[in-house]
Amino acid sequence: MIEARNITRTYRSHGAITGARVVPALRGVSFSLPKGGAVSFIGESGCGKTTLGKILTGIETFDGGELVVDGVELSGLSARRRAPYFRRIQMIHQDPYSALNPTRTIEQTLEDPLRMRARETGGDRKAVEARAAELLELVGLSPEGVLGKYPHQLSGGQRQRVVIARALTVDPEVLIADEAVSMIDVSMRLGILSLLRDLRTRLGISLVFITHDVATARYIGEDGELHVIYRGSVIESGPTDTIIQTPVHPYTQCLLSAIPIMRGLELPGPQRLVPIGSLDERTEDTGCLFAPRCPFATDECEVAQPALTPWDPTHQHACLHAEPRQVAAMEIALSQ
Ligand SMILES: Nc1ncnc2c1ncn2[C@@H]1O[C@H](COP(=O)(O)OP(=O)(O)OP(=O)(O)O)[C@@H](O)[C@H]1O
Ligand SMILES: [Mg+2]
Repeated sequence: MIEARNITRTYRSHGAITGARVVPALRGVSFSLPKGGAVSFIGESGCGKTTLGKILTGIETFDGGELVVDGVELSGLSARRRAPYFRRIQMIHQDPYSALNPTRTIEQTLEDPLRMRARETGGDRKAVEARAAELLELVGLSPEGVLGKYPHQLSGGQRQRVVIARALTVDPEVLIADEAVSMIDVSMRLGILSLLRDLRTRLGISLVFITHDVATARYIGEDGELHVIYRGSVIESGPTDTIIQTPVHPYTQCLLSAIPIMRGLELPGPQRLVPIGSLDERTEDTGCLFAPRCPFATDECEVAQPALTPWDPTHQHACLHAEPRQVAAMEIALSQ
């Protein structure tokens, strides 16, 4: 369904205080998403997750690489010819509070795009109303209960369900969920995640799931691929369960090390790994991007960023010191 090859995106910004800055948000990301499949991207704040989601939905441009949707390479097409491909890919953003227009009722929110669609397919007003109700039921809301309401009268979880229903108005083939539950009350998160999983099985929709949380990535994409992204590069990828059970890249191992331990108080043995310092510490880009924070870095790591190489036929990593290490047993439980 989607084949991304070596996608790069660099932002150039000019701040009054920071001066001219070049931020490589994505440094050559490749993956493929089969029809009805799931891929997840995991990484900490600022690693390029949202940029990738925006590129996949055409909201953001990319400056290198190829994006193939349904066999068609999009970068060579005009914006008008690209639009129908991007319409098949809908994004659900992190913030259900700002995603909905506060002055429109839920009925208006859903019926606007449905009416546009009806113009193309020849549907009438009754069909639009019926479809709006059907979509609300599909996302687990009662049409009578919410159609006449404004977003502020709904809970965060209900709003996110409306956002999902709105994405479904154009009959997408791919949903991109970017931290779709991180701003929602924990009590409602599992419901939203199981809805997304359900839409995948019931409607055959493919899912790109973007998160910083391993537990949700696992829940959503257990039978799919997991890509671990660090400062715009995929540093480990493979079947979700394999990556979670036997990560070989120190960064993934750090991510999976559940319990933060203060430096100087590490337990004996390598079982709890904590990355050193913070994401912003290094500005120059020679050598492995993770080396300055890596507990296993050696001089060799300062020389060049390792390319993604196979660990086994389905599992890839980009590290000179890749090896399965015993990391602290991670509690993979979703907060309810
Ligand atoms: N429009 C922009 N102009 C300049 N820099 C940008 C822009 N958008 C993103 N960036 C930078 O690109 C990098 C990647 O940003 P992105 O939003 O994709 O990260 P993210 O992984 O989604 O982070 P978070 O988990 O905080 O949402 C960051 O360093 C960010 O500051
Ligand atoms: Mg983001």
